[in-house]
Amino acid sequence: MPRHLLTGLELSADELHALLDRAIELKAAPHSSTALRDTVVALIFEKPSTRTRLSFEAGIVELGGHPMLLRSGELQLSRGESVKDTARILSRHVQAVGVRTGPDELLEELAAEGDIPVFNMLTAGHHPCQALADLMTMRETFGTLEGLKLAYVGDGNNVARSLALLGGLAGVEVAVAAPDGYQLEAECGATLTDDPAEAVAGAHAIYADVWVSMGDEDTAAARRAALEPYRIDDALLDRAAPGAVALHCLPAHPGEEITAEVLYGERQRIWDQAENRRHVQKAMLELLLAAPR
Ligand code: CP
Ligand code: NVA
Repeated sequence: MPRHLLTGLELSADELHALLDRAIELKAAPHSSTALRDTVVALIFEKPSTRTRLSFEAGIVELGGHPMLLRSGELQLSRGESVKDTARILSRHVQAVGVRTGPDELLEELAAEGDIPVFNMLTAGHHPCQALADLMTMRETFGTLEGLKLAYVGDGNNVARSLALLGGLAGVEVAVAAPDGYQLEAECGATLTDDPAEAVAGAHAIYADVWVSMGDEDTAAARRAALEPYRIDDALLDRAAPGAVALHCLPAHPGEEITAEVLYGERQRIWDQAENRRHVQKAMLELLLAAPR
């Protein structure tokens, strides 16, 4: 049976820690692994991307594999061919497939109907590869994840959900500050509040994402109004633990969810975080493709 990474909860806690160790090793020696030699990995993008596309494509090449980029509209899927038939054809030609799309159900069906690993490059519900890079960045910054607290401030969206789920699996305390109507479900395991100051108290990392995610454009004005008090600035960072850093999955909107001072300042690890996508995703691909297929 192939292994998948749809939410990240397919990993055990031990596997997650081992994956982060491996990502740090691969960052130190980016050309040390040829785990994907003779391997073709399809990357299907039904939504725009800068970091995910760059990091997967470059990372697969570094591992000796071949990325096959497929944009929205290039597959018969866009003309009504079923997910089931698409999964069967993918399984005959490539060794793994990553998908960026809206519905989580599409990935679940691809995984159920195909014979190859499926990984989530962002859905409306989850962004696990991002959360893996974020945990790697926290480990790199603080040397360990033990005893750390992460505070997410803003829309309770896909990124917030993946941070809550995978942070919880890694043993990191996660708090989410969001306004009424934009809060994450309690089942994700994070501490929920509507007060950013309460969430960031004692936090080692404070985290922002866009106020308007891809697919939420119709409600942009209402979102901007509700989320206005949920901006990461120097004053909010001052309320966190000493030595705390700001994180952001990017793309950023300076002046909205984060100030330019924080985004380009000394107390952020945002640009390292974006680089770490490549290293951690390489470790994930090694794990998925090492499993019996
Ligand atoms: N953070 C992230 O996934 O960025 P892209 O949308 O540019 O891939
Ligand atoms: N929550 C954002 C993340 C972008 C990387 C979105 O889904 O658009």
